[in-house]
Amino acid sequence: MTKIRAAITGVNGYVPDYVLTNAELEQMVDTNDQWIRARTGIQERRILKGEGKGTSTMGIEAVRGLLEKTGTAPEEVDLMICATVTPDMQFPDTANLIADALDIRNGFCFDLHAACSGFLYAITAASRFVESGAHKKVVVVGADKMSSIVDYTDRSTCILFGDGAAAVLLEPNEDGYGIRDSLLRSDGAGQVFLFQKAGGSRYPASPQTVENREHFVYQNGGPVFKAAVSGMADVVAQSMKRNNLSVDDVSWVVPHQANRRIIEQVARMADFPLEKIMINIHKYGNTTAATIPLCLWEWENQLKAGDNLILTAFGGGFTWGAVYLKWAY
Ligand code: UT7
Repeated sequence: MTKIRAAITGVNGYVPDYVLTNAELEQMVDTNDQWIRARTGIQERRILKGEGKGTSTMGIEAVRGLLEKTGTAPEEVDLMICATVTPDMQFPDTANLIADALDIRNGFCFDLHAACSGFLYAITAASRFVESGAHKKVVVVGADKMSSIVDYTDRSTCILFGDGAAAVLLEPNEDGYGIRDSLLRSDGAGQVFLFQKAGGSRYPASPQTVENREHFVYQNGGPVFKAAVSGMADVVAQSMKRNNLSVDDVSWVVPHQANRRIIEQVARMADFPLEKIMINIHKYGNTTAATIPLCLWEWENQLKAGDNLILTAFGGGFTWGAVYLKWAY
């Protein structure tokens, strides 16, 4: 019996119109364009503006376009997973809100919280449902409205993040295309370096948590930077080794976009030329769960059936991983 694999058969993204430039950030905090470009590679990010708009607002647009372009009817979707750390609400899940807006009612949906590794965790989870033969059309959407949890008085984090969403359709494939290997990791010892302290069950919202600015992202950048470089370089090397892949065999590396210097160091350690690395951090900053599918969306026209791709991410938790897949179209 041929093995069923989960192949990506479509991708679509959505970014909000508002462009937050380094020049505008210079008016908000003590920073400058030159520092931001040199230390992160970011030139601008997109911000979702408007009362009552949340992560689902962007997820809906990404998934709506995905269904249209792949000719998928809402009733055909039998599973949707939304990777996010900025759900519209604690519950119901943002995946449910997206499904409701698009009339997806014949399957089930849930959110998956793995910070910047969320998309890799989610496509891996989704791939198991497809490989089992039980699910035929599975949507995975990575979406984050990071501007809702970023402290725009903290220059060390507010320059990094942006808002965005992107979604893929996964379908069964028996011709060798699709997700071939996932190597996922987590280490809770990283919890002290990158977190949003309040708003959960341990520190529910109170006047005190608001006054202490504890509903915002806190990051100790240095240790996260080091762990991100070594973590991603390690899983990329392991993934290539156990799949007998050389640098020449791999068409594209698709890294999480947190810092251009992190991406360059991982590329150098894995011996990849930068021409093979998808990088769009200059336009969008770090959109957390959306960075990798936004890259796939942007590069879609350059991809060919049979291209070997390695996706890799590192984020809060710590969480990290590498996914090896053969592009299907
Ligand atoms: O996606 C989830 C995973 N997250 C990441 O992978 C992010 C990992 N970390 C990073 O990308 C980097 O650590 C940062 C971009 C956050 C910071 O870059 P860095 O090169 O590690 O800078 P630093 O924190 O060591 O700060 C260097 C200096 C400090 O000044 P002093 O102490 O040397 O006088 C900072 O106060 O740069 C200062 N600084 C800034 N200066 C201008 C920090 N932020 C800014 C800023 N503008 N926005």
